[in-house]
Amino acid sequence: MYSIKNICCIGAGYVGGPTMAVFAKNCPDIKFEVVDINEERIVAWNSKDLSKLPVFEPGLSEIIELVRGRNLIFSTNLKNSIRKADMIFISVNTPIKKTGLGAGETSDLRWVESCARQIGQIAENHTIVVEKSTLPVKTAQTIKDILLSSECGIKNKSFSVLSNPEFLAEGTAISDLEAPDRVLIGGDDNHAMKALNDIYLNWIPQEKLIFTNLWSSELSKLTANAFLAQRISSINSVSAICEATGADINEVANAIGKDLRIGSKFLQSGPGFGGSCFKKDILNLVYLSKYYGLNEVADYWRSVVEINSWQQTRVYEVIVKKLFGNLANKKIAILGFAFKKNTNDTRESPSIEICKNLLNEGAFISIHDVKVTEDIIKKNLFKNPSILNENLKLNKSNWEFQSNLYDAIKNSDAVVLLTEWEVYKDIDWDWVSKNVRKPFWLFDTRSLVKAKNIQNLGLNIWQLGNGSMN
Ligand code: NAD
Ligand code: UGA
Repeated sequence: MYSIKNICCIGAGYVGGPTMAVFAKNCPDIKFEVVDINEERIVAWNSKDLSKLPVFEPGLSEIIELVRGRNLIFSTNLKNSIRKADMIFISVNTPIKKTGLGAGETSDLRWVESCARQIGQIAENHTIVVEKSTLPVKTAQTIKDILLSSECGIKNKSFSVLSNPEFLAEGTAISDLEAPDRVLIGGDDNHAMKALNDIYLNWIPQEKLIFTNLWSSELSKLTANAFLAQRISSINSVSAICEATGADINEVANAIGKDLRIGSKFLQSGPGFGGSCFKKDILNLVYLSKYYGLNEVADYWRSVVEINSWQQTRVYEVIVKKLFGNLANKKIAILGFAFKKNTNDTRESPSIEICKNLLNEGAFISIHDVKVTEDIIKKNLFKNPSILNENLKLNKSNWEFQSNLYDAIKNSDAVVLLTEWEVYKDIDWDWVSKNVRKPFWLFDTRSLVKAKNIQNLGLNIWQLGNGSMN
């Protein structure tokens, strides 16, 4: 039996920070330390001003206030934290590999490998190493091999490796962590699995814990994300059929979702799924399938990603067509840059590609978001400007950030609603009708607005998936 008194989490990102905060809240007798190589991030996690935490999640700052300094600390001292730990969560980033074998599909495991090497070198006595990051199937074997390699030294130390994937969604991370649908623990060491099980039992009922072997656990995480993303691509593909035929995607989603075998969740059509994980996890599944010669399986899952890119392009093309094929000398207000509401995360946000395409057309874009800062938007638009034309790479003056929603909209030719922030539901369209250029278009990609209200004010509206408007 293993006694767990000190837990280290490597990676203070969107998963590591909120996850350990909820663990610390529910396990007051265990000391938690979240460590990261990114000093700036750790400083932000330690900030007295809770609005400066690096991750925005509803309910997070209240928990941080309670546990920080009590049984949770954020630090850059990896060595010290690893040495003391009885259990170590690896919660580092696992983005898609950019070059070399498997580029564009499989995960870049350099950060995970670096963690395993450090743990192997520094850990003392018995240490349970837990994969929290989402990883290609069989990564646990790689971690074991590294931990047990002679370079790490085997004197007085031993390891168990578990897979415990995280299923939280951003924007609802705290409630997902407090009351998850299930907790999955994969492993081959019953004592280690029990130790992790007992930690979760502090706030999660036993029947919610599922135990599998390591590979089922790793594969279940990729598959869960692939299934969720597949539903979004499915409903988005039907949104295009609705536009062509006069059907309404919300009516269709409601009608099919009432079938309990289908269910109503994840049937909201939109500008395409964003976030750091869906695309990368499906591409991992594609790579895995190809690796095992399952080319038809690979093609099936790849199409989910392809429909997603197509949906983003489709939205941009509609905007250009409705505005007479010309965006030069036009101001377009972009409402929402985060990939969904209630997060400050912009990774893979549909807004990025849509904005770049509009800039390429010569539009002036005025961007508003509730939690994303000007600096982050700038980095997203200009750090990897491959699809921006040469002129735009040099001239960064055709966009602006507006912290005031109405300043973004004022004098615009069109508004594009891309993120479903609550405040966008309450826009004063009467004011808008008096302060924009005509003919004006509202492009509502999230079904946030009552179309009739807009039309009654003499404004044009295009609503994604609503065929009655075409
Ligand atoms: P993130 O980029 O926000 O955070 C990762 C952190 O790890 C970074 O701060 C980075 O500096 C740090 N790091 C990298 N290498 C390190 C090292 N060797 N030592 C110390 N720190 C190191 O990533 P994230 O969104 O938290 O995702 C982490 C993992 O969790 C990924 O595998 C992701 O697929 C998975 N996941 C993410 C979510 C989500 O909602 N973001 C949900 C479930 C699972
Ligand atoms: C997703 C999963 O929901 C989590 O279970 C998983 O842990 C996580 O990925 C991960 O592994 O990173 P997340 O990406 O944070 O969580 O947020 P989602 O709510 O899944 O939304 C993802 C994208 O799909 C967003 O752009 C959202 O707008 C879009 N979406 C979601 C739709 O377009 N329609 C829907 O019905 C639902």
